[in-house]
Amino acid sequence: MSDTATPTVIRREEYAPPAFLIDTVDLEFDLVPERTIVKSTLRVRRNPDARPDAHLELMGEQLEFIGAQIDGQPYEHVRAHEHGLTVENVPDAFTLTLTGACNPEANTTLSGLYVSSGNFFTQCEAEGFRRITWFLDRPDVMSTYTVTLRADKAAYPVLLSNGNLVAEGDLPDGRHYAKWEDPFRKPSYLFALVAGKLVALEERIKSGSGKEKLLQVWVEPHDLDKTRHAMDSLIHSIRWDERRFGLELDLDRFMIVAVSDFNMGAMENKGLNIFNTKYVLANPETATDVDFANIEAVVGHEYFHNWTGNRVTCRDWFQLSLKEGLTVFRDQEFSAAMSGGDENEAARATKRIEDVRVLRQMQFAEDAGPMAHPVRPESYVEINNFYTMTVYEKGAEVVRMYQTLFGRDGFRKAMDLYFQRHDGQAVTCDDFRRAMADANGRDLAQYERWYSQAGTPRVTVTTQYDEAAKRYSVTLAQGYANGSPAARETQNGPLLIPFAIGLIGPDGADLPLTLEGEQRATGTTRVLELTETQQTFTFVDVAHKPLPSLLRNFSAPVIVEYDYSNDELAFLLAHDSDPFNRWEAGQRLATRELLALAARAGAGQPLVLNDALVKAFAHVLTDASLSPSFRELALMLPSETYLAEQMAESDPAAVHTARQFVRKGLAAALKAEWLAAYDANLTPGAYEPTPEAAGRRGLKNLALSYLSELDDPADAVRLATAQYDGANNMTDRAAALSALMNAAAATGSDYAKKALEDFYARFEKEPLVIDKWFSLQATQRGTAQRPVIETVRALMRHPAFNLKNPNRARSLIFSFCAANPAQFHAADGSGYAFWAEQVIALDAINPQVAARLARNLELWRRFTPALREAMRAALEQVAAQAKSRDVREIVEKALA
Ligand code: TRP
Ligand code: ZN
Repeated sequence: MSDTATPTVIRREEYAPPAFLIDTVDLEFDLVPERTIVKSTLRVRRNPDARPDAHLELMGEQLEFIGAQIDGQPYEHVRAHEHGLTVENVPDAFTLTLTGACNPEANTTLSGLYVSSGNFFTQCEAEGFRRITWFLDRPDVMSTYTVTLRADKAAYPVLLSNGNLVAEGDLPDGRHYAKWEDPFRKPSYLFALVAGKLVALEERIKSGSGKEKLLQVWVEPHDLDKTRHAMDSLIHSIRWDERRFGLELDLDRFMIVAVSDFNMGAMENKGLNIFNTKYVLANPETATDVDFANIEAVVGHEYFHNWTGNRVTCRDWFQLSLKEGLTVFRDQEFSAAMSGGDENEAARATKRIEDVRVLRQMQFAEDAGPMAHPVRPESYVEINNFYTMTVYEKGAEVVRMYQTLFGRDGFRKAMDLYFQRHDGQAVTCDDFRRAMADANGRDLAQYERWYSQAGTPRVTVTTQYDEAAKRYSVTLAQGYANGSPAARETQNGPLLIPFAIGLIGPDGADLPLTLEGEQRATGTTRVLELTETQQTFTFVDVAHKPLPSLLRNFSAPVIVEYDYSNDELAFLLAHDSDPFNRWEAGQRLATRELLALAARAGAGQPLVLNDALVKAFAHVLTDASLSPSFRELALMLPSETYLAEQMAESDPAAVHTARQFVRKGLAAALKAEWLAAYDANLTPGAYEPTPEAAGRRGLKNLALSYLSELDDPADAVRLATAQYDGANNMTDRAAALSALMNAAAATGSDYAKKALEDFYARFEKEPLVIDKWFSLQATQRGTAQRPVIETVRALMRHPAFNLKNPNRARSLIFSFCAANPAQFHAADGSGYAFWAEQVIALDAINPQVAARLARNLELWRRFTPALREAMRAALEQVAAQAKSRDVREIVEKALA
């Protein structure tokens, strides 16, 4: 099959175990950029648990075949083809030696072996190993690896692979070698090598059981001053996994390597994690508070994969959420613990709010479009397209719900059982669920539906208070939104939904909870287990009519429908003891108001700001008992993208008008309060990346951003100019620049020109900061005189722009297409034409990155008619020209 033919669909139900197993892999690399020779020696035997096959079918792509031997003798019955190598009529057990060549220098896909800044790197997940050598490149084939690297010593002084370094030395002609052994069996997707001119920050620590461990963060020499935070994050991750899950680092040596050309965030290769530089490099001058937090989260994520993913891996790629959902849950818990300790619920809540915001904006949208799929998908064309918000973020929620049901201790017991049963194995989501069920003595058959049902469930709540009997009943009904793809497909039946609820009395305090049939009250938050389509739960001894606090801490990934009045929402925002729901009440209030205003804006009617919203926001802004980070989150309006998704027909221009109107209204009505918040949250002295300091900067910079909306932004310009010039950290400098750009767009002045030039000149040698420079301009507000598309097209010709570098492409193209909706969805279709051009251009360079950009138009059917038609035309243009399986799957599903 060629790439342009109708793509093959891979189905979960067609899983069959491999016909052969590979016990050991011995790889020898002669690393040369334009032609690397790879010799692979495999100990192969028939799989006793599989149907016997006459031939061994190995996967291989973009490889030049040089020769084959079986048991040391040249073997002729070998056929190389476009998808691999057929080795015919093989014995039951044998040693197969294959020699081939690949071209890392020409590899712009960044999958397999490639060159970046003159150094060699690999990326094998999901199916990149087959671009290095022929193999049974599937995760249920686990082998022990020995790797020998040979290369020119001056050009490639550092030679790294998985596991332990067992030998190294010089070779003739200025070459040298290093030999690595990985003591743990692993699937091919966890193989890695790195070779080049790199230096490391090193640290030696003792693990929980007292064993000495060598930790290294490898970077290019000029980046050594930006490795401390990643190292600290690694040490914190190791300690947290020991404490929370009793899981210890199992290797003597653990390495992180940073590379500037990388398709995603990072990769958990055994003992040799490879990271996008964006998630390693940081110092106060170059990285923002958000960057620092992201680095901590991604370092944690990859480290936690060592147990959840590597020691226990996936049987097949349909089980991807087994490792990704679980590992995202673990990194979320780690970040929450780092910001608030394991017990401080208020501090932990800010992390929870941020995670839920991402889930609702991105995963709910995915679930409402043509790429909707269950956490464990049933089919795929290109597996790289299924590293999705559903598999990662909804998958993490599905794991979190076990913890909500069984508590932290019950969850821990089940994790222990999971490792006891499955260490060293390639398993399924069912195996994980079984461990949860068995360790907690529960039948979790119904819970399987969370893995097999696509779509976002909706829980409709109705309540009734019986004044005379002092009884309060809560009826929960579950279903799916009309029109969602999940609703149209066969329903699996009701889900088990853990629904956390509290009841708030007239004084704002939580009421003790007694369910009908219970002897006495226990606690003030109860996790109701909704297992049927509709169920009523009755609380007794309820003295006054309460206000319900629903789905506390977002206890399930569902949409809750309940008719709160504006006053009730304001009350919850002021009083709910559950910090997540306090935030949620403010968001509901703002969303309701913004959607009403967007409807008016769309109909050309005048806009008036609701005083209830101003009062509620004023209350939060001036409530010093709330942490600055919570206030920042509560005062941030829902994004334009999220709001547009809530409309019956998405109208990005109307949403933008409405949201800007509210921002400006809040800026004007609360000007004195914003100015006071700015002054009260300065962080003088040396930069500290602590959650407290970051929270203060966050609130201060939010105040600045509101002030920049004023018709007369003189205060914002004065503060931002001083902040830009005096900043000792990137958070403040970038926020000041952004506020100046805002004020400039609003007034048509050139407030930001000087700072923008200064920013470029100051950070010219820091690619990650230049990415910010591109992205700030791509996401800026447009004016009638200068739509942002013109700036973006001009920046495409900037000498620092480079389409082959994914970070740079994302900083300009993705930022514009995905993070500037009002400009991207311009009525003249100019954004869509640009999108189509760039998807097609990227498709020829890097299909994985192109396919991510291709997804940007998948919700086209949900927009207003004129936009919808323009989007369809752009999609059709891409469908006609795209070559890769990756992009074709996306656009064909979108148009279907
Ligand atoms: N497994 C990686 C993670 O979640 C992500 C990953 C999958 C990846 N495929 C990739 C990273 C391809 C880079 C390129 O941590
Ligand atoms: Zn992962």
